[in-house]
Amino acid sequence: MEVYSGLAGIPVVKSSISYIDGQKGILEYRGIPIEELVEKSNFLEVSYLLVFGKLPSQREYDEFVCDVKNNLQIDSSIIKFLKDIPKDTHPMKVLQSIIPVLSAYDPNKDVLDEKHHYSSLTRLLGQVPTVIAAWKRISENKDIIEPDFRLSYGENFLYMIRGEKPTKKEGDIFDKCLILHAEHTINASTFTAIVVVSTLADFYSCVSSAVGSLSGRLHGGANERVYYMLSQIDKTEDIPNIIDQKLKSKERIMGFGHRVYKTHDPRALLIKRMLQEISDRENRLYKIAIEFEKVALKRLKEKKIYPNIDFYSGVLYSLLGIPPLFYTSVFAMARISGWIAHCKEYLKENKLFRPTQIYDGGHNIKYIPPEKRG
Ligand code: COA
Repeated sequence: MEVYSGLAGIPVVKSSISYIDGQKGILEYRGIPIEELVEKSNFLEVSYLLVFGKLPSQREYDEFVCDVKNNLQIDSSIIKFLKDIPKDTHPMKVLQSIIPVLSAYDPNKDVLDEKHHYSSLTRLLGQVPTVIAAWKRISENKDIIEPDFRLSYGENFLYMIRGEKPTKKEGDIFDKCLILHAEHTINASTFTAIVVVSTLADFYSCVSSAVGSLSGRLHGGANERVYYMLSQIDKTEDIPNIIDQKLKSKERIMGFGHRVYKTHDPRALLIKRMLQEISDRENRLYKIAIEFEKVALKRLKEKKIYPNIDFYSGVLYSLLGIPPLFYTSVFAMARISGWIAHCKEYLKENKLFRPTQIYDGGHNIKYIPPEKRG
């Protein structure tokens, strides 16, 4: 028997939700190229596509958007709960702990019932952005901004976070970022979600566990760290030296490399284009990010290490007025539909995950009482 460390290259499911060709830099959701969806669709329509396997009819779409918007408000008991959490708690920890509590307000409890799938999806898509924005305001001792139902999904989130209405362009760009983060085959957090659903735990537990998995710095936590790495750089001239020092000390360059993409991550190319659309070319962070990518790529391309989506997402979010501490939560709110799509798909032929191990410890070892342990 052999151990497949990190399960690299081991298929654990058959799935029709998304497809990656890591050699060619292709990403498709339900067979539709990501570039096409970013150009022509919107985040809620893409969420529907991922979870239900087809683009919605106009009536289905209107109903879905209405059901999500009807869930934007969170119960006052949740706000009370948020107010009792220490203010320096990381937003991902807050999210991970609040999501299971949201299940208390969902009457559809049975994970095998389609009604649970629809109601947990629409409730989580509606309430998670409000929880994130409420936590941002509470942690800064500011008043919570109530959701504005007239705004688009992306605009409303930016409004609740910032306290001022975004421009249409900002709302559209943010919505496209959510599309880019909505799904990405079986990565660590999605695998976590399906392991949890295989026990027949409900979708709230699956999403909450996936949030914990996403929070690590090798996964969703990278975007926040990229921002800190770039914002610490004073001048573009310092960049080659900084990168060489990092590589010499075997430090990972955050926002670079991917287990699957061995060429440009198509999401990174799209997000860079959006950044170029919205940023002032003289913006300090923008200039540093562009130069850093150029120099790091020169050093790492030989090893097929390219910038991933997290390299530019933080820089873009900073221009949209989202604080760095909240970048990974934005990733989480976008990935809800991807996680739920996989949980729903996995349940069709559910098998409880129970891998095995190769034991390499001792046997028949005598117990030593505490006073004799030395
Ligand atoms: N910076 C510098 N070197 C890197 C690197 C990075 N970001 N990513 C991989 N490498 C190097 C490793 O040091 C290793 O070099 P070696 O063979 O000389 O020891 C080689 O590439 C392979 O590394 P490995 O960890 O086996 O590759 P992986 O495919 O498992 O790594 C990641 C994938 C994402 C974990 C890795 O690229 C990484 O840590 N990136 C930074 C974090 C990040 O941006 N995460 C977001 C992913 S979307």
